[in-house]
Amino acid sequence: FSAFLTDSFGRRHNYLRISLTEKCNLRCQYCMPEEGVPLTPKADLLTTREILTLSRLFVKEGVDKIRLTGGEPLIRPDVVDIVAQLQQLDSLKTIAITTNGINLARLLPRLQGAGLNAINISLDTLVPAKFEFIARRKGFHKVMEGIHKAIELGYDPVKVNCVVMRGLNEDELLDFVALSEGLPLDVRFIEYMPFDGNKWNFKKMVSYKEMLDTIQQRWPELEKLPEEASSTAKAFRIPGFRGQISFITSMSEHFCGSCNRLRITADGNLKVCLFGNSEVSLRDYLRTGVPEEELLSIIGAAVGRKKRQHAGCLPELRDAPLTSSRLPPLDSLR
Ligand code: GTP
Ligand code: 5AD
Ligand code: SF4
Repeated sequence: FSAFLTDSFGRRHNYLRISLTEKCNLRCQYCMPEEGVPLTPKADLLTTREILTLSRLFVKEGVDKIRLTGGEPLIRPDVVDIVAQLQQLDSLKTIAITTNGINLARLLPRLQGAGLNAINISLDTLVPAKFEFIARRKGFHKVMEGIHKAIELGYDPVKVNCVVMRGLNEDELLDFVALSEGLPLDVRFIEYMPFDGNKWNFKKMVSYKEMLDTIQQRWPELEKLPEEASSTAKAFRIPGFRGQISFITSMSEHFCGSCNRLRITADGNLKVCLFGNSEVSLRDYLRTGVPEEELLSIIGAAVGRKKRQHAGCLPELRDAPLTSSRLPPLDSLR
């Protein structure tokens, strides 16, 4: 495995997340302000060719999974073409996408044809009116249609990401669990994370332990599944259910020790941690035409600066109760 993608703690970064756009067709309260986020001028965004050049380089060094993210990645007009070109990279095993599902039913047949292997869909409520409140846009039925299309086309499991917020959707936990009874879903309950300007508040966060407790009261037979290496999720199943449920415990029990991710933002910055700032503009180096070896050493230096843990989960935060004043905000989730 490439020394450039191995950090000073021995973590090998074989999973690259690439943001295709900062734009989104929803305005989820926990993610974006009503007016949307400031957009980078188009000329400053990575072109499709640049995305492919960087992907090829990372794959050559050992990346075997690429996840396309956003904003909302399905808004990028050439997303199918990007997937098709990624599929040409021989040692890339997984091409995944995280989407809000709005355009999924329409695009999925073509995305699948192009080689998309895995889909995560955000859905925070099963109540249409509440969807409109949380996402500040209509779209519940489109998302459900997207989830069903993914199942119909054989994606298994289809991952459903549900950010749990007190007073908003924590009363729907059992309804979400019930979704996994007959469908090949992995319903993933996510701890709400602080995020610049998202009005995160400690009291709104429902912890993993609390969610587990609620679910176990109804389903005492809930059983833990073995940990998958480097997974963000702790998985469980209810005997007899077709699907499973999981918890993403970014706040209460971080998983930095086995982190295998790197990120490239839509404007071409490399980020080595979700909680950290951009390390370096790969776009600027690409545009000056630096040789590949030099680009690799720039990437290697950034990976080498990666910290052991993100600032939101310093060791002392693990045992003491989390409070909003002790947590630095994320600057971006992608
Ligand atoms: P899989 O590859 O299917 O395991 O998906 P994923 O969990 O890596 O990605 P997804 O885009 O579905 O993200 C779901 C949630 O995982 C996000 O809301 C975050 O809470 C969390 N997450 C993703 N990547 C990271 C990371 O690098 N660090 C932390 N702390 N949380 C992350
Ligand atoms: N806390 C936790 N998860 C979040 N997501 C977006 N904002 C937050 C937040 N503040 C989730 C989305 C999507 C995934 C990429 O991140 O729901 O599924
Ligand atoms: Fe869009 Fe996803 Fe943010 Fe919602 S969470 S506004 S769907 S990018």
